[in-house]
Amino acid sequence: MTETIALITGANKGIGLQTARRLGADGITVLVGARNAERGEEAAGRLRQEGADARFVEIDVADEASVAKAAGWIESEFGRLDVLVNNAGIMIDDAAPSETSLQVLRTTFETNVFGMVAVTNAMLPLLRRSAAPRIVNLSSDLGSLGLMSDPSYAHYPFVLLAYNTSKTAVNALTLCYAKELAGTPAKVNAVNPGYCATDLNAHTGPRAAEEGAAEVVRLATLPDDGPTGGYFMDEPEPGTVVPW
Ligand SMILES: NC(=O)c1ccc[n+]([C@@H]2O[C@H](COP(=O)([O-])OP(=O)(O)OC[C@H]3O[C@@H](n4cnc5c(N)ncnc54)[C@H](OP(=O)(O)O)[C@@H]3O)[C@@H](O)[C@H]2O)c1
Repeated sequence: MTETIALITGANKGIGLQTARRLGADGITVLVGARNAERGEEAAGRLRQEGADARFVEIDVADEASVAKAAGWIESEFGRLDVLVNNAGIMIDDAAPSETSLQVLRTTFETNVFGMVAVTNAMLPLLRRSAAPRIVNLSSDLGSLGLMSDPSYAHYPFVLLAYNTSKTAVNALTLCYAKELAGTPAKVNAVNPGYCATDLNAHTGPRAAEEGAAEVVRLATLPDDGPTGGYFMDEPEPGTVVPW
């Protein structure tokens, strides 16, 4: 066990896996969260082969019992948590806003929003035992009201009712937690990883998942004088503020 323990949800592939890989390479114990045991074990095994202290933890963020079980396991194994990367997310929009079903909206919010709240609330007692808790919430530029109302913005045409509104909610809940934890050593920030080629978007993004993970890793390892309650991306440079 190393000095820092980090849980990354949805870490079996994509940006989550690359985040776990980078944190593991930096000597942090990475808890590879995945809802599917086979995929999670495989990813954790690969990171261990690369030299990381990586452990699989089964966690379906949309299932409260699974979240509670994961928190119980982390408590019994480590007694605390230093870093929580709320990365698990889905994008399942398949229609224009006027034709979006409530089912798509509910399913999206179950994972992207309610799941993030469930995991954060379950892990906070463990994070409060850390000397330097860090929470990083995976948002998206598609959740930025400032960017999405700007016709000159490159992704202005991406009108995904369920996904975009779920990420706007992620931004708001990031601020809520940052305010609750103000005055403690905790840092809570949202991140836009940029448009990365992953399964989420059928690999249409121009960036690699590794590039998307860079700002996530920076926010997960912020120094004590780092920001909290912010929304950041790494372009044109690390720490670039994204409009809410
Ligand atoms: N790629 C982009 O361009 C982009 C841009 C902005 C923001 N993001 C955000 O970045 C995060 C990672 O996305 P990605 O692009 O790396 O997508 P991805 O490759 O599809 O990976 C998503 C991960 O989330 C997991 N997941 C989904 N639902 C889950 C649940 N209920 N419980 C636990 N894990 C669950 C998936 O597990 P399974 O393998 O079991 O499905 C997978 O590990 C998401 O929050 C996404 O919204 C991505």
